Amino acid sequence: MAEITSPERITLFSPYKMANFNLSHRVVLAPMTRCRALNGIPGPALAEYYTQRSTQGGFLITEGTLVSNTAAGFPHVPGIYKEEQVEAWKKIVDAVHAKGSIIFCQLWHVGRASHQVYQPSGGSPISSTNKPISNRWRILLPDGSYGTYPKPRALETYEIRDVVEDYRRAAINAIRAGFDGIEIHGAHGYLLDQFLKDGINDRTDEYGGSIDNRCKFIMQVVEAVASAIGASRVGVRISPAIDHLDAMDSDPLGLGLAVVERLNKLQLKQRSQLTYLHVTQPRYTAYGQTESGRPGSDEEEAHLIRTLRKNYEGTFMCSGGFTRELGMQALADGDADLVSYGRLFISNPDLVLRFKLNAPLTKYNRKTFYTQDPVVGYTDYPFLSNASGRSRL
Ligand SMILES: Cc1cc2nc3c(=O)[nH]c(=O)nc-3n(C[C@H](O)[C@H](O)[C@H](O)COP(=O)(O)O)c2cc1C
Repeated sequence: MAEITSPERITLFSPYKMANFNLSHRVVLAPMTRCRALNGIPGPALAEYYTQRSTQGGFLITEGTLVSNTAAGFPHVPGIYKEEQVEAWKKIVDAVHAKGSIIFCQLWHVGRASHQVYQPSGGSPISSTNKPISNRWRILLPDGSYGTYPKPRALETYEIRDVVEDYRRAAINAIRAGFDGIEIHGAHGYLLDQFLKDGINDRTDEYGGSIDNRCKFIMQVVEAVASAIGASRVGVRISPAIDHLDAMDSDPLGLGLAVVERLNKLQLKQRSQLTYLHVTQPRYTAYGQTESGRPGSDEEEAHLIRTLRKNYEGTFMCSGGFTRELGMQALADGDADLVSYGRLFISNPDLVLRFKLNAPLTKYNRKTFYTQDPVVGYTDYPFLSNASGRSRL
């Protein structure tokens, strides 16, 4: 009688082929702004931070990296639009590659989540709208104080193509710096999300109104970048159900599906899949500011994520509030191919090993998330001293 073998359960330590990359495990470093790139130039501190989190066959996504000189909304965020930045990133990418990891650069423009102090000549930040972010949210200023978000300036229709071009050039720069690919940050209330969400986008031109129009900007960016560097080196991040920085939509599932449908079509047109789609779990609305998100997975959000996962034709990555157990569960249930970890990876540089050993985790210190010290709260979190365990990866 033929023996029936159950398929092997997929875990965080099952290998995965992501586009042309062979990953040895599925614990991904989530993109995280850490404000340590002094004056926009990534230096040795970043090399240390990223190599600490590198593993053979691992996958890292950098912090949001600025595509132009109007893109910043935090102090000391690295850019990838100047030659000096490209040269500086090369050293970091080389160091990560030497440790065996794959690394993508997250391309970022904050749009209205900025302030005149971050803008060239003190101008107004750009957005889909003239409406500012409400007082519920505060912006971190270069002197460490918090301010209110100013009134942005809605981009003129003809200006949008220049911003698309900024993304395209930044993607080419990232490849020139040696990155394995890029992630387009279309999430969390920043520029591309400001066009996607009907709670923000009040435009009357071809970039506002219908879902089709609201998706236009991000799709133009994805298409321009994919055409320039190849779809298989492009990941896309969205957060249809996250209200971070007032980014509300009246129909998060409909919006998420609309993006998924368009990405699927683009993949057909380009005859290549994108590297992945990265979706933030709704439960972590206020990840940057508070602990108000709750771990766990209630029915509504599970439905949203599962529906997007089911409809997207390609690699699907989840992020937001995952513990080791929830990550294992999501993979075993087929809800994701990869899981990205943020805060736990801040305070556990050897998170992959700790998960493997099911070892205790170090708690992160929120107060040093966005400070500038190149070591404290950045590269001084402890590794497990268990050397025999370390050799297992
Ligand atoms: C300090 C900090 C900075 C972050 N910066 C970014 C960023 O630059 N780009 C981005 O897409 N998400 C950013 N995030 C969100 C993370 O990628 C991640 O989705 C979030 O922390 C939830 O995952 P976690 O529960 O594992 O921390 C940031 C989160 C934190 C805590």
